[in-house]
Amino acid sequence: MTILDFQQAKRDKKKLVVVTAYDALFTRIVEQAGIQAILVGDSLGVVVQGKSNTLAVTMEEMLYHTKLVASAAQRALVIADMPFMSYQASTEEAVRNAGRFLQAGATAVKLEGGGGMADRVRAMTSIGIPVMGHLGMTPQSVHVLGGYKVQGKMKDRAAVLLDDAKALEAAGAFGLVLEAMPVSVAKDITEAISIPTIGIGAGPCCDGQVLVLYDLLGLFDDFVPKFVKPYAHLKTDALQAVRRYKEEVEQGKFPSDSESYH
Ligand code: KIV
Repeated sequence: MTILDFQQAKRDKKKLVVVTAYDALFTRIVEQAGIQAILVGDSLGVVVQGKSNTLAVTMEEMLYHTKLVASAAQRALVIADMPFMSYQASTEEAVRNAGRFLQAGATAVKLEGGGGMADRVRAMTSIGIPVMGHLGMTPQSVHVLGGYKVQGKMKDRAAVLLDDAKALEAAGAFGLVLEAMPVSVAKDITEAISIPTIGIGAGPCCDGQVLVLYDLLGLFDDFVPKFVKPYAHLKTDALQAVRRYKEEVEQGKFPSDSESYH
């Protein structure tokens, strides 16, 4: 999938389906399932690295995971998440870091923030780096936002989100993630801009949806937000499997003859 296909989907009223992936194994699985776009999310700081937020994820870590995903992906659009402090300090630094993601194999980058990030988005797109914006609950601003909370509940805050969306579109963003906001706010934004909106906790009116893969597989249950729907319970299955293996080794049942060489 190209950036142009991604944008065409909105005009064709076809829902875009995005999931995160952080390694080659899961990239192959999600591609086999027909997923069109993969986000190498900095959520890996929480679901892979076990931290309480995404703030400590580094450029080098994101580049490593981007390479794993990009080298396994055959068709899906690979979007790399820019980690905290890789784009906030200056436009020049942001552009250089974004370029490293394309060199690592990504087709596009994603960054968090509203109109204040428009200059970064403009600078990147002007030199050929496609950028996806991210509005609403932006996890890299968790401390300013006072926690993981739904954004845009008040009319004035909803209006700011709408202005931010328009500013990012005008700056050249090819799409926007809308995270944790009321259905009506995401609907207004989706109708007001011509680029696709990808919702996570933003209701059904967005042009597409994204979920963290470990959430949708039921692998990560430390914290399950209201907007997550686990489509499997792989943590339970994994626990059962490892417990059975332990039992069988302890009881001398594994390895049996069929797992042994003669
Ligand atoms: O890091 C991530 O996985 C994300 C998605 C939740 C949109 O930004």
